[in-house]
Amino acid sequence: MATIRLGDLAPDFTADSSVGMINFYDYLGDGWGILFSHPADFTPVCTTELGAAAKFKGEFDKRNVKMMALSVDGAVSHAEWIKDINETQNTTVNFPIIADEDKKVSTLYDMIHPNADNNLTVRSVYIVAPDKTVKLIITYPASTGRNFHELLRVIDSLQLTAYHKVATPADWKQGEKVVVSPAISTEDAKKLFPKGVEEIKPYLRLTPQPNI
Ligand code: BEZ
Repeated sequence: MATIRLGDLAPDFTADSSVGMINFYDYLGDGWGILFSHPADFTPVCTTELGAAAKFKGEFDKRNVKMMALSVDGAVSHAEWIKDINETQNTTVNFPIIADEDKKVSTLYDMIHPNADNNLTVRSVYIVAPDKTVKLIITYPASTGRNFHELLRVIDSLQLTAYHKVATPADWKQGEKVVVSPAISTEDAKKLFPKGVEEIKPYLRLTPQPNI
């Protein structure tokens, strides 16, 4: 297993899942992807997370992001657990959950951290761009459920960088000013961002969010 770093190609794989055998790259097509692991089926935090993810599917779709979950339990277990998630979280799980019983994918993506737990995956998140490069990696412990609002916020930021050459400041939210990349001169920025460029310092330039 090699360490995966930002900018690396996301490793491709074919694995069993809650919807049958699935190939990661084929599933992503030419869109964005989010691959997230959870420790185990029939556990409380994971149940709430997968319910939250299912409710946000429309938001991920709007951003052209395909969701894929993973745990080291099998497909039969996933099928039973999905019934519980749908019932208790009042939703319908609408994305595949990889059944990584042989730990092939979790090993490929370094999702098992033996000093935390030898057998179960931690809460890893990988966001993959259409060119299949890894744009974001986050790792949460088993005891902390992820914030799906934050995952959408970070996808908005990544897509602003990819499509509009801007960065986003601390605690940025949709509609707020964004940061002009240090690689762009203020003169060029004024041409690129016709809504205006505010130069607070030569290295700190703000512009209204370009895509709204
Ligand atoms: C949970 O999803 O609730 C959980 C799973 C493994 C360890 C701790 C919590």
